[in-house]
Amino acid sequence: MIGYAQSGQTGSIHSDHPKGIEMAEKAAIITGASSGIGLAIARMLGEEGYSITMTARRPDKLSAAAAELEELGIELQFVAADMQSEDDIKRVVETHRERYGRLDVLVNNAGVGFGSPVGDFKTKQIDMQLDVNIRAIVLFYRESVEMLRAAAAEHNNAIVVNTSSISGKAGQAWLSVYSATKHAVVGFTQAMNKELSGEGIKSTALCPAFVDTPMTEFAKGQVAAEKMITPGDIAESVRLLLKLSPACNIPEMIFERPGEDMF
Ligand SMILES: NC(=O)c1ccc[n+]([C@@H]2O[C@H](COP(=O)([O-])OP(=O)(O)OC[C@H]3O[C@@H](n4cnc5c(N)ncnc54)[C@H](OP(=O)(O)O)[C@@H]3O)[C@@H](O)[C@H]2O)c1
Repeated sequence: MIGYAQSGQTGSIHSDHPKGIEMAEKAAIITGASSGIGLAIARMLGEEGYSITMTARRPDKLSAAAAELEELGIELQFVAADMQSEDDIKRVVETHRERYGRLDVLVNNAGVGFGSPVGDFKTKQIDMQLDVNIRAIVLFYRESVEMLRAAAAEHNNAIVVNTSSISGKAGQAWLSVYSATKHAVVGFTQAMNKELSGEGIKSTALCPAFVDTPMTEFAKGQVAAEKMITPGDIAESVRLLLKLSPACNIPEMIFERPGEDMF
């Protein structure tokens, strides 16, 4: 395992292993890979034989998650990066390119949500949600499209998964900015399919209701964890995308909790 942990403020990078191996047979980048949905998708991609680059913000949490997957024999590297930073995003893609030389699956999953009445929003919270939830996805496509094109030219099945939310399908009170960013993810995914799916780069927006992850700790007083969708449910759905023929794309997946009317 190679790990690059950037100490955010200083921008220093350390590597504890030598770099450089032969080109992977198939490779993926997963953002927000240190917990919850991203970690479950990373594990699934590793099980499916992908060499993976895991990225998330906090280095310690990320390296612990990477160690967990390495125990399973998964070929991986991890790169700590802040999705609010264009330079960090470029560095993640470049580090992936250097080590694995190709990109077959890109999972844009990192996300943040702040609940607040609209009159009370702090500008920092607005910016963080816009940056992490949508701007980072746009930047990842821009930086990765060349590698995705190369993969699509080979097998016509390059896959991009964008984690939206059920809030990306119906706006929610007190989660207004989050809802707006997640609608943007759905719209951007649709646009990417119009622009790129003819070339074999297929995009899917994931739109789940409550999933049992650290993000929903705040809600567990009202909704029991066992009544929530599991990260494994989401990972299994992404596994399905890997198995589809080049002739089939699923542009959007909505995950509801039985008995709950979200619309
Ligand atoms: N849980 C739900 O009910 C639910 C429902 C619908 C959609 N979603 C979406 O699913 C995605 C994953 O969320 P989750 O539920 O799995 O939550 P989670 O366990 O809290 O995971 C969030 C991930 O995003 C990373 N992240 C957050 N801010 C970042 C930043 N500025 N730079 C880099 N990485 C950052 C986190 O890393 P650090 O911990 O190091 O910050 C973590 O790896 C998000 O897009 C979320 O909006 C979740």
